[in-house]
Amino acid sequence: MSKIFPVDAAVAASALINESKYFELYQASLDNNDAFWAEQGMRIDWIKPYSQIQDVSYAKSDLHIRWYHDGTLNVCANCVDRHLPEKASQTAIIWEGDNPENSKHITYQTLFDEVCRMANVLKSLNVSKGDRVTLYMPMIPEAVYAMLACARIGAIHSVVFGGFSADALAGRIIDCQSKLVITADFSHRGGKSIPLKKNVDDAAKIAGVSDYLESVLVVKNSEVAVDWNDSLDHWYHQKAEQVPAECPVEEMSAEDPLFILYTSGSTGKPKGVLHTSGGYLVYASLTHQYVFDYHPDDIYWCTADVGWITGHSYIVYGPLANGATTLMFEGVPNYPDSSRFWQICDKHQVNICYTAPTAIRALMREGNSYVESTSRLSLKLLGSVGEPINPEAWQWYYDVVGEAKCPIVDTWWQTETGGILISPLPGATPLKPGSATRPFFGIEPALVDGEGKELSGEAEGNLIMKRSWPGQMRTVYGDHQRFIETYFSTFEGAYFTGDGAKRDKDNYYWITGRVDDVLNISGHRMGTAEVESALVAHPKVAEAAVVGYPHEIKGQGIYTFVTLNAGLEGNEALRDELVKWVRKEIGPIATPDIIQFAPGLPKTRSGKIMRRILRKIAEDEFANLGDISTLAEPAVVEDLIANRQNKK
Ligand code: WTA
Repeated sequence: MSKIFPVDAAVAASALINESKYFELYQASLDNNDAFWAEQGMRIDWIKPYSQIQDVSYAKSDLHIRWYHDGTLNVCANCVDRHLPEKASQTAIIWEGDNPENSKHITYQTLFDEVCRMANVLKSLNVSKGDRVTLYMPMIPEAVYAMLACARIGAIHSVVFGGFSADALAGRIIDCQSKLVITADFSHRGGKSIPLKKNVDDAAKIAGVSDYLESVLVVKNSEVAVDWNDSLDHWYHQKAEQVPAECPVEEMSAEDPLFILYTSGSTGKPKGVLHTSGGYLVYASLTHQYVFDYHPDDIYWCTADVGWITGHSYIVYGPLANGATTLMFEGVPNYPDSSRFWQICDKHQVNICYTAPTAIRALMREGNSYVESTSRLSLKLLGSVGEPINPEAWQWYYDVVGEAKCPIVDTWWQTETGGILISPLPGATPLKPGSATRPFFGIEPALVDGEGKELSGEAEGNLIMKRSWPGQMRTVYGDHQRFIETYFSTFEGAYFTGDGAKRDKDNYYWITGRVDDVLNISGHRMGTAEVESALVAHPKVAEAAVVGYPHEIKGQGIYTFVTLNAGLEGNEALRDELVKWVRKEIGPIATPDIIQFAPGLPKTRSGKIMRRILRKIAEDEFANLGDISTLAEPAVVEDLIANRQNKK
């Protein structure tokens, strides 16, 4: 039996939603779905109001998802301009540098001025409505200015996380045919400098990129010189001096694209998840307000990077649409030391802190003294996202960080969902450590078995969504067929999440993890197929298979089995070479934790790699290999077990 943490009466009294209101509104949101979303749509400003609410078909032959589609709006105007009459001098963004001595407050007025300037710079570089712009940025305010500037002029941004390599960046520039890359000379993390501009230079040289890329806009973020290419590169600060201060907003249809964000799938190259304007903003702002119980004047901090969906929806679009104060942190949790997160909470009087289980586990390992040396009195709510949070980490977060005073919202969602779908609401939901609890308003999850049969009551199965919500992705950029195949083909007429889940007797959901070949490394998605194809691209590698294994801090680690070309012998030097190779091909976030050289991989007689067996070996479950009667060469497995590499 898992523990239950009842809702604190004082929290419930001041919260936007209490438990009975949750049930009432939830039921109403399903019973009168259009009426619910019609009303919620009005939380943002429209240029031309909508009369249509949803136009959705999950049928494979006619798959389309449209929300508020006859309305027009501008997302940037909603996040910035509309707050000016009342909040011009309120802080929109608190920026905290990697170096603890650097921080600044950016008001809504300043945000407006900066975004307009950036938007005019984009126009001066020939960017207009519908063009794609790739951002490869540090966690500095200019990253937010750039996103909002794109939204202002109707350009579609594609943010690529700074931990991806030049190769990965090039692939993403080509896929969406970006004409502009916005970057910085360097990014600063944990006292180290990362040469972002150099990676962009390398990406620009990769075949195919120059077909699209016209300019690179560089924000100066260091005193160190960088290489310069006069025909491509522009300093932002120089361009900004040459453009007008005012920039009108572009009127966009609700279904015009807002951004593309690449994410790993179980097969092939990353998919460009496409989100549109109206529905996405309604959903991001609604969930931000209710899940975090955001009240005016709260200081809200999401520790994610803007390179991920969490940064898009819950650092930038949700909070700013709500006129909130959002904190943006350039650095890492353990620099200068492992107190940093909690020092930031004290320094800026943070009320709501939203982070990832991997960070919690890493800090927990360093001991309580790093937490206890800070006051954290301002905290009233804690959040978790990215992967299942193990009950030990939950309990530590609750007891030590929150001193048993702050509810924890364990929010389940995905790049594809645009916003949180399953989560406690702090004033409404008794908590169970490790459970994402109940669906948000308008969300109808279900569990199905392998045949697509819906399971009722207490059950475990594949997690699907039976109906749409406004924040749902609309397509895979440039590949609608892949969209249909990935999400709507496994279970007829429903959105398939790729996750497994359990539902308990209280109707609480417990996410058990991916049911496909996607790994979750420190809360970051990585397809095994991507790492495998990076490895087999190495001239010495004949074949590779990648599986996950339980990792104390990262949640999952990357275990790779590699077969070398005939006559080659595996050794430490080659291991290092392969690690470097994968980091170059994909980026540091795909670094293999373990490489095991193997004379052969376990295959069925028809030649399919039996990953199930590799997974068991990686997990140390030798006794549990299951049915191996279909193996072509059983001896292969004995060798794999005998040469099992030790976990790090
Ligand atoms: C996992 C991140 C359990 C899940 C917002 C999902 C979680 C994938 C949780 C999406 C959670 C995210 N509990 N698992 N609270 N949140 N996941 O696209 O497997 O980077 O499918 O979006 O992370 O990862 P993504």
